[in-house]
Amino acid sequence: MQNSVTVIAPVNIAVIKYWGKRNESLILPINDSLSVTLSTADLCSKTTISADPSYESNQIILNGKEENFENERILRCFEMIKQRALEAESCPKELLDCKIHVDSENNFPTAAGLASSASGYACLVYGMAQLYSLKKQEISDIARMGSGSACRSIYGGFVQWQKGVELDGNDSMAVQIAPASHWPDLNVLILVVNDSKKKVGSTSGMARSVVTSELIKYRVEKCVPQRIHSITQAIKDRDFPKFAELTMRDSNQFHAICLDTFPPCVYMNDVSHAIVSYIHEFNKNEGETKVAYTFDAGPNACLYLPEKYVKRVLSFINHVFPNDNQESVEYIRGTPVELENEENDFSQYIPYAKNSLKYIIHTKVGDGPSIVE
Ligand code: DP6
Repeated sequence: MQNSVTVIAPVNIAVIKYWGKRNESLILPINDSLSVTLSTADLCSKTTISADPSYESNQIILNGKEENFENERILRCFEMIKQRALEAESCPKELLDCKIHVDSENNFPTAAGLASSASGYACLVYGMAQLYSLKKQEISDIARMGSGSACRSIYGGFVQWQKGVELDGNDSMAVQIAPASHWPDLNVLILVVNDSKKKVGSTSGMARSVVTSELIKYRVEKCVPQRIHSITQAIKDRDFPKFAELTMRDSNQFHAICLDTFPPCVYMNDVSHAIVSYIHEFNKNEGETKVAYTFDAGPNACLYLPEKYVKRVLSFINHVFPNDNQESVEYIRGTPVELENEENDFSQYIPYAKNSLKYIIHTKVGDGPSIVE
């Protein structure tokens, strides 16, 4: 009877955003969304789960701090996985009867403000599925019960969360559009913006949008279905300019909905808006779309770009966002980039205020969760 497992799960960043639920408790969205799974080599959650007859209670430790296991979302994931294991008769009943201990941490600083709930819940659910030997079963619907966006972190590459139509949410789950190996050229730069303001969380922000925004209805009915269709095609064709335009348009529309919410949810700050205009200016002057931005419920930018432009875009970012730490290894994290010998003339662009970025993470599209041997 195997009673301990360690797994990792990736972060995902949506290019067509999930924003709004039709059912709060079942976490059913009002629209489909589509994301890119990021490489676990640079960003991931790592979770060890053990079950033992001697444990007296369930326990969960997140980043070294004990949290309440009796949290509604955690409990539901746990109960659903056990139910599925019971139905599949995938493991001994004694194992299912044991209490569990969960120890989870992120390999990226929470200060990065990246959606850690997606990788965290995907890791928890995938780990429990391994513990109870649920090998082939669908589990993205269970991860969804932890945090909506977590269902997309169950798969690698390019992932669509199909909103589904059933009242009980049985058809609301993630599907892989293409694996990471389909378009390994896609690179990612996360610009972590210096910011201390506390934002409205995604859960309450989107609930407020559903009730108060008029634009959100138009987005859900008229824009998202078309965009999902077009971006899926762009991914299949590895058509970066098309992928980039749809990604930027959807990020902008999502933040427009946030401003149309009453009172508004303001997630982007002045630095975020500066990133947007620099990127449009850069793409225009380069004569082609070399890089795309997208912003979640915070000020940090996630840039998507083909591998061959990483050096040039990074040199450009270093020029327009000068930083005292630019030379330090801590400033550009993740997959190393050699910037030496880069001859660039960006003097036409006026730099923004110094130290507006905290640091940058370079990564790529990556695979789904896996077991750590
Ligand atoms: C802006 O998945 O964090 O990142 O389902 O309430 O837990 P809950 O919300 P969450 O929302 C993510 C919103 C987003 C867009 C996206 O990831 O699609």
